[in-house]
Amino acid sequence: MKTLFDESNIGKLKLKNRFIRSATHLSLAEKDCHTSEKLLNAYEDLAQGGVSVIITGFSHAFAEEQPAVKMIGAYDDKFIPDFKKITEVVHKHDCNIIMQLAYGGSQSKLLKAKRKIMGPSAVEHIFTGIKPIEMTKKDFKAFSEKFGDAALRVKKGGFDGVQLHCAHGYMLSQCLSPYHNRRADEYGGPIENRARIIFETYENMRKKVGDDFPILVKINCSDFMGEDGLQLEECKVLCKKLAQMGLDAIEISGNVAYNENSPLIFEKKISRDKSRQSYFSKYAAEIAAEIDIPLIVVGGNRSIDVMTDILNSTDISYFSLSRTLLSEPDLINKWKEDENYNPKCVACNKCWSLKGNICILNR
Ligand SMILES: Cc1cc2nc3c(=O)[nH]c(=O)nc-3n(C[C@H](O)[C@H](O)[C@H](O)COP(=O)(O)O)c2cc1C
Repeated sequence: MKTLFDESNIGKLKLKNRFIRSATHLSLAEKDCHTSEKLLNAYEDLAQGGVSVIITGFSHAFAEEQPAVKMIGAYDDKFIPDFKKITEVVHKHDCNIIMQLAYGGSQSKLLKAKRKIMGPSAVEHIFTGIKPIEMTKKDFKAFSEKFGDAALRVKKGGFDGVQLHCAHGYMLSQCLSPYHNRRADEYGGPIENRARIIFETYENMRKKVGDDFPILVKINCSDFMGEDGLQLEECKVLCKKLAQMGLDAIEISGNVAYNENSPLIFEKKISRDKSRQSYFSKYAAEIAAEIDIPLIVVGGNRSIDVMTDILNSTDISYFSLSRTLLSEPDLINKWKEDENYNPKCVACNKCWSLKGNICILNR
């Protein structure tokens, strides 16, 4: 029987257990996107708390496209010393750290007049009302180059891998969605075309970081929007292709929340009801059955018995967590002591604050 505390490998990365901190924007960097004492302390707490890998909050590869305040920049070599500070503090505690790279696009309202906001098509965003500039083929080419350059910086900064954020309705997720992507050229239409920019970006990152540096992708199993969004069968096609191309692992999330009749990224009321936990796992299990690279599932992972059951009844290998680790960065150590320990997080979704994305129990 497999256990959550088994040791394993993702590419050359050694994992001491199957728990991963899913990318979580902490909003603790300096305003100029450099690191801060508070951010370093937060990563050190997580590293000491027992997870095998930390995936950082999203970081931007374009200077002119910052989707959130107080995030770490990845668009210039001037950030490499910051990366080194972060990775050194984490590596002291037998923990790995992977940087997530993202392009926000029309889903983020931050400084909308100042940002250059591009998207697959000029379709107004339902929530923000922002209409992005439709990307040209030249823009797509520049996009993959910039992400490749940022991935190389991540490697030079001592990170153990890099993750491309293709989930949650941000720009790369929009490329996959027929609602946002109305293109008639080779970047629109069938899933192989809508995913082209992801394949090209992956290739550019791989070319620059080399074969032995782990590259991961985070993606929605489905947007749960019917034919307007990415669908599960299409996600399988995309994951299979990425696996063939040499991707090291895939993290499965879901739902851009236009439709309430499906699990949401930030599902509530899951703390007591185990049947509602690990809410993307049934979709992730279908994907895992069709690919031969490790699969991580995120979303409502809160009970050792629920996760152990999934681990032993599906091909899912890893469990990533976000909100529970905001309230208790040492949750994994607590679970190691007592597998019946109940996380304090009640999924109230009040994690966001102007003073940093810190759990209300810890402010
Ligand atoms: C404060 C906060 C910030 C987040 N930032 C990111 C991010 O930068 N990138 C990302 O892919 N997901 C981000 N997420 C989503 C989480 O990674 C995760 O997918 C989601 O919270 C569901 O997992 P959970 O039930 O363990 O919280 C964030 C979540 C929270 C609560």
